[in-house]
Amino acid sequence: MLVAHFARTVGLAGYGLVVSPMFEELGVFERLGEATDVVGKEMYDFHDKGDRHLALRPEGTASIVRAYVQHRPPLPFKAWYAAPNFRYERAQAGRYRQHHQLGVEVLGPTDADLDVEVVALAASVVAGLGLTRVEMLLNSLGDGACRPAYVAALAAFLAERQDQLCDQHQRLPLGNPLRVLDCKRDSCRSATDDAPRSLDHLCEPCRDHFARVGDGLTALGVSFTIDTRLVRGLDYYTRTTFELAATALESAQNAVGGGGRYDGLAEAMGGPPTPGIGFGLGVERLLLACDAEEVLAAPKGSVDVFVVDTTGGGEALRLTDELRRAGIGADRAFDARSMKAQFKAADRSGARLALVVGERELAEGTVAVRDLIDGDQEPVGRDDVLADVRKRL
Ligand code: HAM
Repeated sequence: MLVAHFARTVGLAGYGLVVSPMFEELGVFERLGEATDVVGKEMYDFHDKGDRHLALRPEGTASIVRAYVQHRPPLPFKAWYAAPNFRYERAQAGRYRQHHQLGVEVLGPTDADLDVEVVALAASVVAGLGLTRVEMLLNSLGDGACRPAYVAALAAFLAERQDQLCDQHQRLPLGNPLRVLDCKRDSCRSATDDAPRSLDHLCEPCRDHFARVGDGLTALGVSFTIDTRLVRGLDYYTRTTFELAATALESAQNAVGGGGRYDGLAEAMGGPPTPGIGFGLGVERLLLACDAEEVLAAPKGSVDVFVVDTTGGGEALRLTDELRRAGIGADRAFDARSMKAQFKAADRSGARLALVVGERELAEGTVAVRDLIDGDQEPVGRDDVLADVRKRL
C-alpha cells in the first residue's frame, strides 16, 4: 500500500519507475564520498569470481546517476524507485543493515522550481499517509563557488575547538568538517553552537536559488524550518538539502527521509555536467512513524467484487476472470469452503459487492448480486452481470 501510494503520488508528477541493480562496481559508490560513514565504514563490498570489486547498493542515487551517464535518456530524466539498500550499521530500532527506500531523482534542470517540486512531493507522500508530526528541515550547502571558503572557515573554527569535540571528531584529520555539525553528541553540539553557517556564506546565485525554493514552498503551503546544521550524511550535495524528521520517533533515528541537490555528481561519474536532485524516504522508519502516530489505516481492500460460489467453483473461476479482464478488481475463495466461510472472506476482502452463485442460480442462469454494505440482494441474468456490476460500482 505504501509503495502504491508513493507510485501514484510521483506518477502524477511525471516520474517513471527505474529498477537498478542490487550491486555495482565499488567505484560507483565511492563517488558518494570516501569520508562518509556510508562509504568508509558501512559498505558491503566483495570480489566476485572474476575478481571485480563490487558492493551492495548502500543508497539509490548513485545507481540512477550511473544509469543516466551510461544510457543518456532525454532530459529532464525523472525517475522513481522502491528498493532495498545495505549498510553495515549497528542495527537497532529504526536502523537496519537492510533497509528500503522510496525515492525520486531528477537530472537536468537547475531551476529552483524543481527543488520546490521535489521537496513538496516528499512532503505530500508523508502527509498522504496521514502523518502530521513530521517536520521538513531545509538548508543550503552552497556550490563549488562558495562552499570551499565556507568549509575552510568552518575547519578553522573547529581547529580552535578541537579538544571540545567528541572522541570521534577529535581525531585528525577531520575528513569533512561539515559532518561535525551533524554530530548528535552533546560535546560537538555545544562546541559548534556558534559555528559559521553555510547560509551566511552563500554566493549570490546560491542565495537567490535558496530564496526561490523558500518562496515556492511557502506558495504551495509546504511548511518548513531552516536548519543550519543540516549537512546530510553523503558528500555529493550542493545547494538545497532537506530532511523529514518525525517528532514521534526517538531523535537519533527520526529522519524518515532526506535528499537534496547534487549538481556535480553526474560529472564526477564521467558524464556531462548535469544537475540533479532527489530524495529517499526510509520505508521502515515511515512505518514506525505511522505506528507511533497510529495513523496507518488498515490496507483498503484491493478488490471491488467477491464471488461466492457454492457449486464447486467453476462459476467463480469464470466470473473472476471476466471481471478482471473488464478491469474490475475481483477475488474469490478456494477449496470449496462453506457459504458462511466464503461470506466472511468477502467481508474481509473489502469488496463492495458479492456475486453469489448457488445451485438455484446455476439452474436459472442467474447470479445474485449482493451489496455488502446494505445487504440488499437481487438476481441478475448471467449475461447481464458485468453491466450490472459496472452500474453499481
Ligand atoms: P539517506 O539520508 O542516507 O539518503 O537515506 C534516506 C532515508 O533512508 C533516511 O532518512 C532514513 O529514513 C532511511 N535510512 C537510511 N539508512 C537507514 C538504515 N540503516 N535503516 C533504516 N532506514 C535507513 C540517501 O540515501 C540519499 N540517496 C537520498 C537522496 C536521494 N538524496 C538525493 N536523492
